[in-house]
Amino acid sequence: MTDLVELAKRRGFFFQSSEAYGGVSGFYTYGPQGASLKEHVEETWRERFAVAEGHMQIDAPTVMPEPVFEASGHLDGFDDMLVECASCNESHRADHLIEGATDIEEAESLPTDEVAALLDAHDIDCPTCGAPLAGQPVDEFNLMFETNIGPGTSQTGYLRPETAQGIFVEFPRLKEYARGQLPFGVTQVGKSYRNEISPRNALVRTREFTQAELELFVDPDDEGPDVSAVADVEVTLYPAENQPDGDYVETTVGDAVTEGIVDPWVAYYLGVATEWYETIGVDFERFRYRQHQPGERAHYASDCWDAEADVSAAGEEPDWIEIAGYAYRGDYDLTKHDEHADDTFTVFKQYDEPKTVERASVDPDMSYLGPEFGGAAADVADALATLAERDRAAFEDEEVTVTVDGEEYTVPTEKTGFEFAEETEAGRHVTPHVVEPSIGIDRTVYTVLAHAYDEDEVDEGERTVLRLDTSVAPTGVAVFPLMDKDGMGERARDIAADLRAAGYDVTYDDSGNIGRRYRRQDEIGTPFCVTVDYESVEDDPETVTLRERDSTEQVRVASDDLESILADLRAGETTFDDL
Ligand code: GAP
Repeated sequence: MTDLVELAKRRGFFFQSSEAYGGVSGFYTYGPQGASLKEHVEETWRERFAVAEGHMQIDAPTVMPEPVFEASGHLDGFDDMLVECASCNESHRADHLIEGATDIEEAESLPTDEVAALLDAHDIDCPTCGAPLAGQPVDEFNLMFETNIGPGTSQTGYLRPETAQGIFVEFPRLKEYARGQLPFGVTQVGKSYRNEISPRNALVRTREFTQAELELFVDPDDEGPDVSAVADVEVTLYPAENQPDGDYVETTVGDAVTEGIVDPWVAYYLGVATEWYETIGVDFERFRYRQHQPGERAHYASDCWDAEADVSAAGEEPDWIEIAGYAYRGDYDLTKHDEHADDTFTVFKQYDEPKTVERASVDPDMSYLGPEFGGAAADVADALATLAERDRAAFEDEEVTVTVDGEEYTVPTEKTGFEFAEETEAGRHVTPHVVEPSIGIDRTVYTVLAHAYDEDEVDEGERTVLRLDTSVAPTGVAVFPLMDKDGMGERARDIAADLRAAGYDVTYDDSGNIGRRYRRQDEIGTPFCVTVDYESVEDDPETVTLRERDSTEQVRVASDDLESILADLRAGETTFDDL
């Protein structure tokens, strides 16, 4: 998409940051058009995923202390495979090199030694200098940016690699705001950071990016969601088992649930997401939900479907990129934080009526366990307690055996203090499961641009046009005077001010010939242009011409009606043909 990236830079959508200092790969600045487009994408996401669904929104810090990531598993498991060229010292994603040189689609699910062997077997060369990579070690490289919190090295912190952790660590407080009622959802839009080995494809793989995430906390023993609101939404699914044959399943959210293709919670959000993708102008001919292969899933996910978009240019081979993940994270996150943190990451669910339950417990005789097992005595006592909860039959014989660190310890049952009693319970402690739609805003912006990008032939000759949806276009309407004289400039400025006051993003432009001005607006995706000409100021009541970007058609309308006409066009209540 060289043309798109060139247009993005020329017209102020996005460009590499700090170019005056040589630039650093993986960091992009959004220019005036891009910042506005991105903001519109985020706004529509908030509307659909937070406001319309009744979920909370929070805004947590991007730097978090090390223990958070010890608990979350990112310190140990958030790695990519790195191979370094011995000749030019450039680092590369080893799995991506394998994918480029073979038919293997998800090489990141392979062990590092297998990837190293494939580099050898396929004689893969360094993409930078061409030297052979055979024989080079393939290492795991942790993607988190490390930092020091405060002066010196007193506390190690990390830039968060996903916004999700900012939600999970606040769960004990957030559940209070939700009054302990499951399910409840918390959303956050913010920056995440990954020290990617080889950033590439402009916004697609960067080191700083924006995520919009929803963490929905559910009780796994409750009924699943009511998917009726999105049951008829059509989706293109690419289940894991179909991927070797390349077969898609064209279905609806409702049928995908009934046929057991997608977990009901994940399916519900695929429906919500599809509605949202439609509002921002994603082309469904170049879009699919692809299920992860088992070896491909993140360390926390038990199932995941990626939204994937083909962002190739017209006439080129498809170029599928992942733009979002819809994952079932189970109880992984809250269990881990419950184990590591001082607070409680469970929800107490009160029964309608107190219940009488039978409960097995132990009260081991430590004056026996201590001399008998020495330093292992406390662990043996814990193991007995766990066994009593799980398998009370184990305490029916004269002796009971438990295993601690691979070693067996046998205890006379009378020394375990095993007891079996009836208790009245008011409720139960639940570790909620997490359903997570995780959207990459930058990749979504890139997709919206790639799907809107077009080249066609109009009266003024060849043109490049971004057919952006009115919901996301950076400029809602451009206002021009034919020339800045004979009162036309003054009237155009007044009209622009009125439209701004009515809430439109308006650009006023009086430079260059009118054809060039239209072309500039076409290139930034402005859906409508208003021109004040001689006829405008002579007509009574005053008129203006209204031009539609996609067809380049123009109609003359009364200035007084302009606001309501634009509102109807935006809302889809009128088409330009009707006018
Ligand atoms: N909390 C789950 C999570 O972070 P992920 O699949 O690693 O899941 C979610 O990331 C989304 O974030 C991706 O689908 C992608 O759109 C975006 N993303 C991830 N890494 C990125 C990068 N280096 N550059 C741009 N976007 C990225």
